[in-house]
Amino acid sequence: MAQNTLFPLTEEHEMIRQTARYFAQNEIAPIAAEFDESGEFPYKTVMKMGQMGLMGIEIPEEYGGAGMDTLAYVLALEEICRADAAHGTIMSVNNSLYGYALLKFGSDAQKQKFLPPVASGKVVGAYSLTEPMSGSDAGTMRSRAVRDGDTYIINGRKSWVTSGPVAGLIILFTMTEPAKAHRGITAFIVEADKPGFVRGKKEPKLGIRASATSEIAFEDYRIPVENRLGDEGEGFKIAMAVLDAGRIGIAAQALGIAEAAFEASCAYASEREAFGQKIGQFQGVGFKLADMKTRIEASRLLTYNAALAKERSKLTGERFTLEASMAKLFSSETACFVADEAVQIHGGMGYSKELPVERYYRDARITQIYEGTSEIQRLVIARAVTGLK
Ligand code: CAA
Repeated sequence: MAQNTLFPLTEEHEMIRQTARYFAQNEIAPIAAEFDESGEFPYKTVMKMGQMGLMGIEIPEEYGGAGMDTLAYVLALEEICRADAAHGTIMSVNNSLYGYALLKFGSDAQKQKFLPPVASGKVVGAYSLTEPMSGSDAGTMRSRAVRDGDTYIINGRKSWVTSGPVAGLIILFTMTEPAKAHRGITAFIVEADKPGFVRGKKEPKLGIRASATSEIAFEDYRIPVENRLGDEGEGFKIAMAVLDAGRIGIAAQALGIAEAAFEASCAYASEREAFGQKIGQFQGVGFKLADMKTRIEASRLLTYNAALAKERSKLTGERFTLEASMAKLFSSETACFVADEAVQIHGGMGYSKELPVERYYRDARITQIYEGTSEIQRLVIARAVTGLK
């Protein structure tokens, strides 16, 4: 298929895309259904992804990463998600929520200590903002950190933590000064092997089932001041800025799922016969494929554009909030649309667990919810274009 000429890729980009594609198709795709069924965490393949540099693509080599750019990250993530979105979720949280938070806001000492284990895939990273009563309205959290000499004592519960059951290091957002509302939130780098850290029950989920999600709780968890990320009260802005990066990852994930569902549909429509012809020859099916393809290519442009905007921001310091939210909104809605049409084109086989199409349908759904729902993306976009609040 013709390359996208608006985004001519460098040799390095092509190389990481091919490497990720080969690994994903040969080592992840064959086990995806099994791990989806069992809901077990795919330690072995995640470890291999770490060895290949896929768990810290943008982290500089001096901190154990691959030292590549955001477009390289997006291309690799898209390929992993074409094979299995659950692996993609684990990869995306490691790279853009955990890695980017430390890269952008960490001190050199924090980068030296906390980036290499996660970039190598030996330790899984996580990001914890949401609480049982605070989801979209992220500034209203109830967990607390109280300063006590050179430490803080943290208490409270966080929910929907991707990789919560297995993460060794977690970027945590909690309230240090409740009276200041969102300006009283502070970020910390939590080490999960310390007393007072408790993992809650694993969430039974509709899709991305091999990516483990859980509550985590803090019971008089003592954390040294040197594990604070940024200053006191800077947590909300850090959380939002990091989500901008995360949302580009989810856009890439959605793109990968949509591509997989589209490719399966195209192949099926070209083989399956009904009423004496290939079903792809019926205009009803052909038009579906046309709409699926068109929306995928539009998603690709928005997603790669957001990656380039993030790359530019490294030089200019400008925010890429608008580009990231537009990419996440459009790609996630595309993934759900395409996966739904894929089930329809496959008919009964689309509903069967014998083919991966029903998994694409279930996996796609989360992309409209996590790292900011479609409604939150629309709110962010509307505020950005009007300047109103
Ligand atoms: N970058 C930097 N700063 C930002 C920012 C950004 N993208 N967005 C907002 N800010 C700053 C604002 O400038 C403002 O600064 P001041 O205090 O100086 O005024 C401050 O943050 C507060 O901003 P708002 O007034 O806009 O905040 P709000 O309360 O109206 O909320 C929101 C805005 C967009 C709704 C935000 O709360 C939001 O994005 N909510 C969704 C949260 C979300 O995505 N949750 C998913 C969690 S992660 C997950 O899914 C689990 C996982 O493991 C993957």
